[in-house]
Amino acid sequence: MKIALGCDHGGLNLKNAIIKHLESKGIEVKDFGTYTSDSCDYPEYALRVAEEVAAKNFDFGILVCGTGIGISISANKVPGVRAALCSDTFSAHATREHNNANILALGERVVGQGLAIDIVDTFLSAEFEGGRHENRVNKISEIEKKYSK
Ligand code: RB5
Repeated sequence: MKIALGCDHGGLNLKNAIIKHLESKGIEVKDFGTYTSDSCDYPEYALRVAEEVAAKNFDFGILVCGTGIGISISANKVPGVRAALCSDTFSAHATREHNNANILALGERVVGQGLAIDIVDTFLSAEFEGGRHENRVNKISEIEKKYSK
Protein backbone atom coordinates (compact mmCIF):
# COMPACT_ATOMS: atom_id res chain seq x y z
CA MET A 1 0.00 0.00 0.00
CA LYS A 2 1.27 3.48 -0.93
CA ILE A 3 0.07 6.55 0.91
CA ALA A 4 0.56 10.21 -0.08
CA LEU A 5 0.55 12.71 2.78
CA GLY A 6 0.31 16.47 2.97
CA CYS A 7 -0.44 19.19 5.51
CA ASP A 8 -0.16 22.87 6.27
CA HIS A 9 1.63 24.31 9.32
CA GLY A 10 -1.47 23.57 11.43
CA GLY A 11 -1.22 19.87 10.67
CA LEU A 12 2.55 19.33 10.68
CA ASN A 13 2.94 17.56 14.02
CA LEU A 14 0.07 15.16 13.40
CA LYS A 15 1.21 14.42 9.86
CA ASN A 16 4.70 13.57 11.13
CA ALA A 17 3.23 11.28 13.81
CA ILE A 18 1.10 9.51 11.18
CA ILE A 19 4.13 9.04 8.91
CA LYS A 20 6.10 7.52 11.78
CA HIS A 21 3.18 5.20 12.58
CA LEU A 22 2.69 4.07 8.97
CA GLU A 23 6.42 3.50 8.47
CA SER A 24 6.53 1.39 11.64
CA LYS A 25 3.87 -0.82 10.02
CA GLY A 26 5.95 -1.16 6.83
CA ILE A 27 3.57 0.99 4.77
CA GLU A 28 5.16 3.02 1.95
CA VAL A 29 4.62 6.75 2.35
CA LYS A 30 5.50 9.90 0.43
CA ASP A 31 5.40 13.27 2.13
CA PHE A 32 4.32 16.13 -0.16
CA GLY A 33 4.93 18.82 2.49
CA THR A 34 4.77 21.22 4.11
CA TYR A 35 7.97 20.34 5.95
CA THR A 36 8.32 23.25 8.40
CA SER A 37 6.10 25.08 10.88
CA ASP A 38 6.26 28.28 8.78
CA SER A 39 2.82 29.59 7.93
CA CYS A 40 1.66 28.36 4.51
CA ASP A 41 -1.49 27.89 2.43
CA TYR A 42 -3.27 24.54 2.75
CA PRO A 43 -4.72 24.48 -0.83
CA GLU A 44 -1.20 24.03 -2.23
CA TYR A 45 -0.60 20.82 -0.29
CA ALA A 46 -4.14 19.57 -0.83
CA LEU A 47 -3.61 19.97 -4.59
CA ARG A 48 -0.29 18.07 -4.60
CA VAL A 49 -1.76 15.06 -2.79
CA ALA A 50 -5.14 15.18 -4.55
CA GLU A 51 -3.55 15.13 -8.02
CA GLU A 52 -1.38 12.15 -7.09
CA VAL A 53 -4.34 10.21 -5.69
CA ALA A 54 -6.62 11.11 -8.63
CA ALA A 55 -3.86 9.88 -11.01
CA LYS A 56 -3.84 6.62 -9.01
CA ASN A 57 -0.14 6.97 -8.21
CA PHE A 58 -1.07 6.19 -4.59
CA ASP A 59 -3.71 3.99 -3.00
CA PHE A 60 -4.83 6.72 -0.59
CA GLY A 61 -4.01 10.23 0.56
CA ILE A 62 -3.95 11.64 4.07
CA LEU A 63 -4.24 15.41 4.55
CA VAL A 64 -3.98 17.34 7.79
CA CYS A 65 -4.58 21.00 8.63
CA GLY A 66 -5.71 22.71 11.81
CA THR A 67 -9.34 21.71 11.40
CA GLY A 68 -9.08 19.39 8.40
CA ILE A 69 -11.77 21.52 6.77
CA GLY A 70 -9.83 23.80 4.42
CA ILE A 71 -7.57 21.03 3.20
CA SER A 72 -10.51 18.65 2.53
CA ILE A 73 -12.56 21.31 0.73
CA SER A 74 -9.52 22.02 -1.48
CA ALA A 75 -8.81 18.36 -2.24
CA ASN A 76 -12.43 17.76 -3.21
CA LYS A 77 -12.09 20.27 -6.07
CA VAL A 78 -9.90 17.77 -7.94
CA PRO A 79 -12.03 15.43 -10.11
CA GLY A 80 -11.84 11.84 -8.91
CA VAL A 81 -11.05 12.79 -5.34
CA ARG A 82 -13.40 11.91 -2.51
CA ALA A 83 -11.80 13.41 0.58
CA ALA A 84 -13.51 12.69 3.90
CA LEU A 85 -12.90 14.70 7.05
CA CYS A 86 -13.15 12.29 9.97
CA SER A 87 -12.94 12.89 13.70
CA ASP A 88 -14.18 9.46 14.78
CA THR A 89 -13.56 5.85 13.79
CA PHE A 90 -17.18 5.16 12.77
CA SER A 91 -16.98 7.82 10.05
CA ALA A 92 -13.55 6.53 9.04
CA HIS A 93 -14.78 3.04 8.14
CA ALA A 94 -18.19 4.21 6.91
CA THR A 95 -16.65 6.61 4.41
CA ARG A 96 -14.54 3.82 2.93
CA GLU A 97 -17.47 1.36 2.90
CA HIS A 98 -20.11 3.74 1.55
CA ASN A 99 -18.34 6.65 -0.22
CA ASN A 100 -15.19 4.87 -1.41
CA ALA A 101 -13.26 7.83 0.00
CA ASN A 102 -9.72 7.98 -1.32
CA ILE A 103 -8.38 10.74 0.92
CA LEU A 104 -8.68 10.97 4.69
CA ALA A 105 -8.58 14.48 6.15
CA LEU A 106 -7.85 15.17 9.80
CA GLY A 107 -7.73 18.25 12.02
CA GLU A 108 -4.71 18.42 14.29
CA ARG A 109 -6.47 20.99 16.50
CA VAL A 110 -9.56 18.79 16.72
CA VAL A 111 -8.47 15.22 17.45
CA GLY A 112 -5.73 13.95 19.74
CA GLN A 113 -2.85 11.96 18.27
CA GLY A 114 -4.03 8.61 19.67
CA LEU A 115 -7.50 8.94 18.19
CA ALA A 116 -6.08 10.22 14.91
CA ILE A 117 -3.88 7.13 14.57
CA ASP A 118 -6.89 4.88 15.25
CA ILE A 119 -8.85 6.79 12.59
CA VAL A 120 -6.01 6.28 10.09
CA ASP A 121 -5.81 2.53 10.82
CA THR A 122 -9.59 2.17 10.59
CA PHE A 123 -9.76 4.07 7.29
CA LEU A 124 -6.95 2.07 5.69
CA SER A 125 -8.32 -1.33 6.73
CA ALA A 126 -11.94 -0.78 5.67
CA GLU A 127 -13.17 -1.71 2.19
CA PHE A 128 -15.69 -0.24 -0.23
CA GLU A 129 -18.90 -2.27 -0.20
CA GLY A 130 -19.98 -1.45 -3.76
CA GLY A 131 -23.57 -2.42 -4.66
CA ARG A 132 -26.03 0.39 -3.98
CA HIS A 133 -23.15 2.56 -2.80
CA GLU A 134 -21.48 2.23 -6.21
CA ASN A 135 -24.51 3.86 -7.87
CA ARG A 136 -24.30 6.76 -5.45
CA VAL A 137 -20.56 7.25 -5.93
CA ASN A 138 -21.17 7.19 -9.70
CA LYS A 139 -23.66 9.99 -9.22
CA ILE A 140 -20.95 12.04 -7.49
CA SER A 141 -18.82 11.56 -10.62
CA GLU A 142 -21.75 12.72 -12.76
CA ILE A 143 -21.92 15.96 -10.78
CA GLU A 144 -18.18 16.45 -11.38
CA LYS A 145 -18.65 15.89 -15.12
CA LYS A 146 -21.58 18.33 -15.26
CA TYR A 147 -19.45 21.14 -13.87
CA SER A 148 -16.08 20.36 -15.48
CA LYS A 149 -15.09 22.37 -18.56
C1 RB5 B 1 -4.36 27.64 9.61
O1 RB5 B 1 -4.28 28.57 10.63
C2 RB5 B 1 -5.75 27.05 9.54
O2 RB5 B 1 -6.65 27.99 9.06
C3 RB5 B 1 -5.76 25.80 8.69
O3 RB5 B 1 -4.85 24.88 9.19
C4 RB5 B 1 -7.07 25.08 8.60
O4 RB5 B 1 -7.62 24.88 9.86
C5 RB5 B 1 -8.04 25.61 7.63
O5 RB5 B 1 -9.11 25.03 7.36
